[in-house]
Amino acid sequence: MEKKFKRTLVTTALPYANGPVHIGHLAGVYVPADIYTRYLRLRGEDVKMIGGSDEHGVPITIKAKAEGVTPQDIVDRYHNIIKDSFEGLGISFDVYSRTTSDIHNETASEFFRHLYDKGEFVEKTSMQLYDEKAGQFLADRYVTGECPNCHAQGAYGDQCEKCGSSLNATDLINPKSAITGSTPVLRETHHWYLPLDKWQPALEKWILEEHKEWRPNVYGQCKSWLDLGLQPRAVSRDLDWGVPVPVEGADGKVLYVWFDAPIGYISNTKELLPDSWEKYWKDPESRIIHFIGKDNIVFHCIVFPAMLMAYGDGYQLPDNVPSNEFLNLEGDKISTSRNWAIWLHEYLQDFPGKQDVLRYVLTANAPETKDNDFTWRDFQARNNSELVAILGNFVNRAIVLTHKYFGGVVPVRGALEPIDSETLAEVKTIKAALEENLDNFHFREALKEAMNIARLGNKYLQETEPWKVAKTDMERTATILNVALQLCGNLAIAFEPFLPFMSDKLRGMLRMENINWDMLGSDDLIAEGTELGKAELLFDKIEDDVIQGQLDRLERIKKENQLKNFKPEPVAPAVAFEDFEKLDMRVGTVVECSKVKKSKKLLKFLIDDGMEQRTIVSGIAQYYEPEQLVGKQVVFVANFAPRVIQGIESQGMILSAVNADGSLSVVTTINPATPGGKVG
Ligand code: 2FM
Ligand code: ZN
Repeated sequence: MEKKFKRTLVTTALPYANGPVHIGHLAGVYVPADIYTRYLRLRGEDVKMIGGSDEHGVPITIKAKAEGVTPQDIVDRYHNIIKDSFEGLGISFDVYSRTTSDIHNETASEFFRHLYDKGEFVEKTSMQLYDEKAGQFLADRYVTGECPNCHAQGAYGDQCEKCGSSLNATDLINPKSAITGSTPVLRETHHWYLPLDKWQPALEKWILEEHKEWRPNVYGQCKSWLDLGLQPRAVSRDLDWGVPVPVEGADGKVLYVWFDAPIGYISNTKELLPDSWEKYWKDPESRIIHFIGKDNIVFHCIVFPAMLMAYGDGYQLPDNVPSNEFLNLEGDKISTSRNWAIWLHEYLQDFPGKQDVLRYVLTANAPETKDNDFTWRDFQARNNSELVAILGNFVNRAIVLTHKYFGGVVPVRGALEPIDSETLAEVKTIKAALEENLDNFHFREALKEAMNIARLGNKYLQETEPWKVAKTDMERTATILNVALQLCGNLAIAFEPFLPFMSDKLRGMLRMENINWDMLGSDDLIAEGTELGKAELLFDKIEDDVIQGQLDRLERIKKENQLKNFKPEPVAPAVAFEDFEKLDMRVGTVVECSKVKKSKKLLKFLIDDGMEQRTIVSGIAQYYEPEQLVGKQVVFVANFAPRVIQGIESQGMILSAVNADGSLSVVTTINPATPGGKVG
């Protein structure tokens, strides 16, 4: 990599502390940011990785209201869960702080005050939505309604999650308060606005001309915003949770969460480096990289840069903003409110010691250019047929064979044959490809390259067959295993950014004390005579029942959601009692029940209807085992004309209720009823 900068500040989007982090956050932001930071550290560069919880804003207060606790209770709870789980996954923040810290409060206040004093804001009075029942203005997520762009229901006052457009609460069609459900009224209020239009020419030059290298999704989104023409944006809100607006006459007003949150990157750098933080923000030889998800692009590429330009004083704009698209889960959008997610803290409990498996799968499947899907089957397959079968297998074979033939001592390398030199040379080619990809934020491709070293190792052992050579030529066996161990050493370096736990374990076995990126490609990493550690498996197989357990959990959640969202069908138009009487419904007892051959849906019943025994075919086989139903009482329509279903004459219809998830529940009696008795 061309070394253009003296130091790098890697920032990661501050997650809202209204819930734990899930795989979507990880794949979008934290895993790629950690890979990049670890890579730069290995290169010996001056790099700091900045993170923290976003503890202001309406998502927090809504959650607090829903639980009947204070916003502070909510952020304390989730900040700790988030922080610990990041640590558990090896996300190597230099600082992970929070926006309720004193230092952030001071920094954000000072930032606003400085812009205010410089006359950078426009103060405007406007009509905003107000909930008369709750006695408060409805900022952002406190109001929902129909999106004016895509007409989806449930759009928020600041954003439509369906089409991604950024909204003003007053744009919503048929708005409703999220607090009381009532229809809000318009009431006058005043706020401070940052005139983004003033910064439009500077932003156009900076992004459209000077940053054509940004990812197409980021560049494209910025261009659409700029093409539409930027408008002044309110930077304050009528709320009682947040950083108070630090000017006279601003009682009951706080900074808009999207004004204070990015300043969190500055506060957190200050917290980490009280004496030298400015170097990272203001020295033109430093660079800032913001890792974010696609819903944050406008704030990091337009709003925050405009704030920094307005502030002046040497603040640098980000050099790149690698933003990922979204990760879905089993074909459905990840959602905190629907609990449709794999939560990091739960994963760490369910899969102890398997941090790298998740890091691997999320990187191999990273939504870098388009939305992608996480499935548990893919997770299992990548673990079993890539990590275990390719990476773990190669390393294990090299170390086990060294123990077997040389007592675990790295053997002496003799003269190299072409296959040895070619294999070692190939690592250098892979290193160049790895760097090219990492430098350009192509982490998926970079991971494939690292994996190519393990593939190379397997191919090398397959072709050189040391287990056969050992029968006749120990000197050649020594050379082969020495070369294989050098490949293992290279794997420990190449994978450190991606799979740090594995790299650590491997280094322990190979007795590699210190590693750095320059060592990658070397054929002399593990010295002859080194006594290796015991061969331990780097990865183990994940069995079907473990995956099934996770799939069952998701199935349960899906059912719970269907139940929560179930809306009974509207009642059918009124009918006369005589019409009802035309249907002859009876109670019967199930005498026999069996599956209908070649049908997944049908059960065949023999019913005691008090007169004779009648056969009825019913489509409920997915919901009951036949033996569950024998002896039970059912209600059936007795006077339908017989119908032949799958070759069986069905003499009636058994009544079932249709549930929220589309499943059926057979209608039965509470007390034993007399077979043949009329139902009415
Ligand atoms: O979208 C979110 O989850 C925001 N809390 C991200 C904030 S990023 C930054 F600006 F702090
Ligand atoms: Zn929309």
